[in-house]
Amino acid sequence: TYIVTDNCIKCKYMDCVEVCPVDCFYEGENMLVIHPDECIDCGVCEPECPAEAIKPDTESGLDKWLEINTKYASVWPNITEKRDAPSDAKDFDGMEGKFEKFFS
Ligand code: SF4
Ligand code: F3S
Repeated sequence: TYIVTDNCIKCKYMDCVEVCPVDCFYEGENMLVIHPDECIDCGVCEPECPAEAIKPDTESGLDKWLEINTKYASVWPNITEKRDAPSDAKDFDGMEGKFEKFFS
């Protein structure tokens, strides 16, 4: 599966939503997550994310993010249509420690 990681937080560009063939993105206030059981591993969303926040879960060190995607995909609502990114998205792109500061 692919998963959404730290740099999505407060960037939330949402380009990923439009390309997913199985609509498996779920929306929280500050970020999106992927439902790991619904993702068909097509990889199409990964290069579409301007924040480079989407990664295959086979990459090392992403256990925490796999857990977060799994947990919140079953709580947050499904999102199937892209909206505008937050107007200050660029200010947060690449910032360290966004999970600790802003995750909700
Ligand atoms: Fe959707 Fe494919 Fe990305 Fe999985 S890898 S979230 S199926 S676009
Ligand atoms: Fe987030 Fe990238 Fe999608 S910033 S909302 S994972 S395009």
